Amino acid sequence: MNSIYNRLVVFYFSGTGNARRTAEWIADEAQKRGLKTLLINIDHLSDPAQFFDDDNKTLVGFCAPTHGFNFPPVMLSFLWNFPKQRGNDVFIINTRAGMKISKLFVPGLGGLAQYFAALLLWLKGYKIKGMQPMDLPSNWISLHPGLRQKVVESIFERCEGISRKFANKLIDGKNIYKALWSFPFDMAVAPIAFLYFIIGRFVIAKTFVATNNCTKCGLCVKQCPVNAIKMIRNRPYWTFSCESCMRCMNNCPERAIETAQSFSIAIWWIIVSVIAPWIISKVFDLGWFTTFSSGTFTGILSDILTWLIGLTVIWLAYEAIHYLMRFKIFDHLVAYTSFTKYKFWRRYKVPSKFKASL
Ligand SMILES: Cc1cc2nc3c(=O)[nH]c(=O)nc-3n(C[C@H](O)[C@H](O)[C@H](O)COP(=O)(O)O)c2cc1C
Ligand code: SF4
Ligand code: SF4
Repeated sequence: MNSIYNRLVVFYFSGTGNARRTAEWIADEAQKRGLKTLLINIDHLSDPAQFFDDDNKTLVGFCAPTHGFNFPPVMLSFLWNFPKQRGNDVFIINTRAGMKISKLFVPGLGGLAQYFAALLLWLKGYKIKGMQPMDLPSNWISLHPGLRQKVVESIFERCEGISRKFANKLIDGKNIYKALWSFPFDMAVAPIAFLYFIIGRFVIAKTFVATNNCTKCGLCVKQCPVNAIKMIRNRPYWTFSCESCMRCMNNCPERAIETAQSFSIAIWWIIVSVIAPWIISKVFDLGWFTTFSSGTFTGILSDILTWLIGLTVIWLAYEAIHYLMRFKIFDHLVAYTSFTKYKFWRRYKVPSKFKASL
């Protein structure tokens, strides 16, 4: 063994496998260098302290995807509850939405993901040795079709090399802070990271529907890392706990899960242009707020009311859609007005040939 460490423990969260694969490549390199390695999936994990000793010979890593310019809440809450200083060096990897345009690899944008995690760990007394973004293929198929398999494979090939190099430098005891290179861009999108905490849970999670192709196999319910899917009226129902990790939608064997894109856009349009202005005008007509007649205050109040009304209407609309989808005509209307229904809108799959040889 030619390292200051004798053990590696990586805690990871992964929706569709990118973060998991990165953690595996790191562990694979560590094993080749003679370190004992442990990969821990944080889904439903309650006591992380049991997996590593209180010494400076165990290197501890954290690896998760970027969601809305931050780590997903499940990873943030894991870090928040992580035990205080145990004498270990740590590293952080956030997988991002890599793309490829012609021959050019285009990186994603991590926003606050690395900084929030680093701050939490630093406050707990850990020494941050590595901060590395990993631009694996984007899995956000609610937004765009899954990338072509050839593109996915070439992005994977590139990232495998970067991950293994990163692992070796860490094991040699070096510091690597590649994540800081995009600092100005990360700060520019920081406000969106905060907004995403609301939008992710209360808006995006309510765009998922299961169509009549669903065979009620229960796989999505079983595989969800945060138990966000319930079977209601014999059909999957997405609760506010959903992290939009995309696991269910990509893994459904019947391709029965869609993002109800047109319906979601139409509902937002009705909220912003009809329902919210009407309710807000009625509220102001009551005259309760005449003492605060400044334009700025009225503007802020209108924005807050629009959001509250919007989130309530989305929840009610989701209940209605979920109920009405039992009728074939409504099911077809929702399904065929979603791009995700059509063949060209590919699902995202991690190529099996990039599995590490652990
Ligand atoms: C809801 C959602 C939000 C995302 N937000 C971002 C983002 O803000 N920045 C980014 O670079 N990638 C973003 N992505 C892309 C994923 O972080 C990326 O594809 C990641 O490698 C997926 O890792 P996983 O397979 O381990 O879940 C987002 C993906 C999803 C599903
Ligand atoms: S995995 Fe697909 S087919 Fe199975 S219950 Fe979920 S939506 Fe239905
Ligand atoms: S419901 Fe689907 S997208 Fe949401 S957290 Fe669970 S597996 Fe991920």
